[in-house]
Amino acid sequence: MDNQAEFYQKLPKVELHAHLNGSVSSETIQKLLSRKPHLNIKHSMTAIGKGQRRTLDECFEVFKVIHKLVDTEEDILMVATDVIREFAADGVKYLELRSTPREEKETRLTKANYVETVIKAIQQCKEEDLDIDVRFLIAIDRRNGTDVAMETVKLAEQYMLSSEGLVVGLDLSGDPTVGHGKDLLPALQRAKNCGLKLSLHLSEVPSQLEETDLLLHLPPDRIGHGTFLHPEVGGSQSLVDKVVKNNIPLELCLTSNVKGQTVASYADHHFKYWYQLGHPTVICTDDKGVFCTDLSHEYQVAASTFGLSHEDMWRISNQAIDCIFATEAVKQQLKQKWNDLHPQVLT
Ligand code: IMP
Ligand code: ZN
Repeated sequence: MDNQAEFYQKLPKVELHAHLNGSVSSETIQKLLSRKPHLNIKHSMTAIGKGQRRTLDECFEVFKVIHKLVDTEEDILMVATDVIREFAADGVKYLELRSTPREEKETRLTKANYVETVIKAIQQCKEEDLDIDVRFLIAIDRRNGTDVAMETVKLAEQYMLSSEGLVVGLDLSGDPTVGHGKDLLPALQRAKNCGLKLSLHLSEVPSQLEETDLLLHLPPDRIGHGTFLHPEVGGSQSLVDKVVKNNIPLELCLTSNVKGQTVASYADHHFKYWYQLGHPTVICTDDKGVFCTDLSHEYQVAASTFGLSHEDMWRISNQAIDCIFATEAVKQQLKQKWNDLHPQVLT
């Protein structure tokens, strides 16, 4: 590992935008492939390698392949514990994992089993003494419409109350070209009213101004991507003003956007726009497995693309603590951890 890579690996980090099934590493995929040889899935169908790009449609096809490989409680437990251990090894001290509860008739997996298994993985990792605090956001796949969204919110509500603080919020994700936010508004409103924090993928593709405007009224607690919010890329000043006025942090995933081709190059990434505004932005991976990256690498790419120093990157990771969905007490613990690590990381 070179000096830069070592610095970013040692830098304590917060990961707030990681989809469980998009975060499965190549090693774990290999284990899943050997569990299910009859599926005839090739390793190359589960990830987008260095220098490769795909359309967003093709990215969503990759998730379908991974879902075929992860369809039992046993798979989910292995995938979730592996992903948590990998984030911990990458210097992530606080992780919010998000995942869409799935029912699989063939393996008799229910959505409640799914959620309980992710919670079990988080609890098992706690016992391993890993230096990472993990929380869970339950995801709505926008493709599935109004009723499923409401059912997912009820599930999230139930586990928010019974998971001792592990389930902290709700994510809205899925193919941005399918469905419309207005159909999901009642479910999102209910989630907010019952105390679930909301992280919404917004303006991930162009021409969603109306939907974004509608959903910003909630308002969400964080925004995923927000690629096409600002006027320079076809968004609008009024959307930017709403985000700024409500001080809604943005979760930015550089490699994901470049490989998914919603952003032309790293240098064109909207990180620059929001960072220059002084608006809270959190660097995240999105799908570290599918996009073959990790959080250290994302920090390193942001620093080298935008000419940021180690001190700047320290500030970015430190300020990400303010954007987490866990309690004030957890924020204070993390701030303390960063203070303790400061002398040995920024020498
Ligand atoms: P899962 O929810 O753990 O199964 O993770 C994979 C799912 O996350 C996909 O099926 C999508 O619904 C969602 N997802 C992952 N990456 C993206 C993205 O970039 N945009 C929107 N949704 C995404
Ligand atoms: Zn995402």
